[in-house]
Amino acid sequence: MPRGFFSIARTVLTVLGVLYGAAIVLLTIPYVQTHLLFVHAVRIPWSSNYDMPERYGLAPNKTINLRVNTADNESLGAWFVLSDPFYHSLPAIPSQPADHIPTALKTHPTILFFHGNAGTRAFHARIQHYTAFSSRLSANVLAVDYRGFGDSTGTPTEAGLARDARAAWNWLIANGATANQILIVGHSLGTGVSVLLSAELSDEGIAPRGVVLLSPFSSVSKVLETYNILGVVPLMRPLAMIPWAANIVKRALIHKFETDILVPRIKGPVLIAHAENDWDIPYSHSEALFNMFLEPLLPPSTPLPSNAVSLTEEEWATFTAQAAKRKEARAEIVTTVALHNFGTVHEFTEPERKVIFVQTLAGGHDYLGVQEGVQDVIGRTFGLFGR
Ligand SMILES: *[C@@H]1O[C@H](CO)[C@@H](O)[C@H](O)[C@H]1NC(C)=O
Ligand SMILES: *[C@@H]1O[C@H](CO)[C@@H](O)[C@H](O)[C@H]1NC(C)=O
Repeated sequence: MPRGFFSIARTVLTVLGVLYGAAIVLLTIPYVQTHLLFVHAVRIPWSSNYDMPERYGLAPNKTINLRVNTADNESLGAWFVLSDPFYHSLPAIPSQPADHIPTALKTHPTILFFHGNAGTRAFHARIQHYTAFSSRLSANVLAVDYRGFGDSTGTPTEAGLARDARAAWNWLIANGATANQILIVGHSLGTGVSVLLSAELSDEGIAPRGVVLLSPFSSVSKVLETYNILGVVPLMRPLAMIPWAANIVKRALIHKFETDILVPRIKGPVLIAHAENDWDIPYSHSEALFNMFLEPLLPPSTPLPSNAVSLTEEEWATFTAQAAKRKEARAEIVTTVALHNFGTVHEFTEPERKVIFVQTLAGGHDYLGVQEGVQDVIGRTFGLFGR
């Protein structure tokens, strides 16, 4: 072997190490974190013309481009999409579609949609959701671009997005919707926003029709442990081998979106859906969330001590008996139905609420909610059919 090989290899490794160290330092900078998490600067489609929803495939004057103002004076760009049954009940294409919003809100349920990171409300995967929601689910749709996204003012923060969500909710109520006619639907980052809004409403005793979490995550710090860039590069996996480096990044997190912690505050029905082929956020996040909703109904568990080898036979027997009891209780509470070629639906009902977890075979990260099977579970669960 030529002598130079080892010295080249050493140089390459050193450079990679320095780059990685630099990446860790960058990740602790708030500005960098904000842009990496929200990716709001990427305005796909690039030259969105929000005044022309028709250009993206929506029917003429079915969608109204409007502004929603937040409590802290941001101005958000939003689209209100009329439900197809309402739109088709009009004698002709409406010349002033905005005038019909109050009637549409009174006569049909409305989906308040919170999109994921990057891109705008005109992104084509999102349009496909509005189309499906307004046709298959007969619902109106309000889709907002958060602060800093699309043509909205401001810069995104976790608290800011929660205010944006509340502003969108208040806009619907101010225009004539009632709480039980509004279904909150979030996708990806939008599930964190949906849960913040749902928890706030629950605290105030306000009950929306329900909340739907499409491709959710349990918290940003857990995403860091599992997120794969384009499904290939596990961002934090090398970090897992250097625990102190992982802890530096986690401690420096400014936008946390701790959905897992908010679970007990959410009242009312919850539907979680996740595709097994989601390479951005693995479906284990949804399993974890479903289990957190279920936890209060199960007999308590004592975690196995880290020095499990030192357990006495009796302690071990107690532990296994407890685990068996939990498994039994779970099997009694949760019904699981396998739908051929589509996926599995797990659900349980407690006096306060129903929780459903739809685990699909297909859909990936962005197109999960575009599947008719997912829409139908949503429609059946929240009474959007037979209208
Ligand atoms: C919002 O703007 C209005 C007038 O444009 C002003 O009176 C009000 O103080 C502002 N509120 C905040 C929170 O900045
Ligand atoms: C659609 O709405 C706009 C106003 O928002 C109106 O100028 C236009 O005439 C409408 N189109 C039709 C076909 O009525």
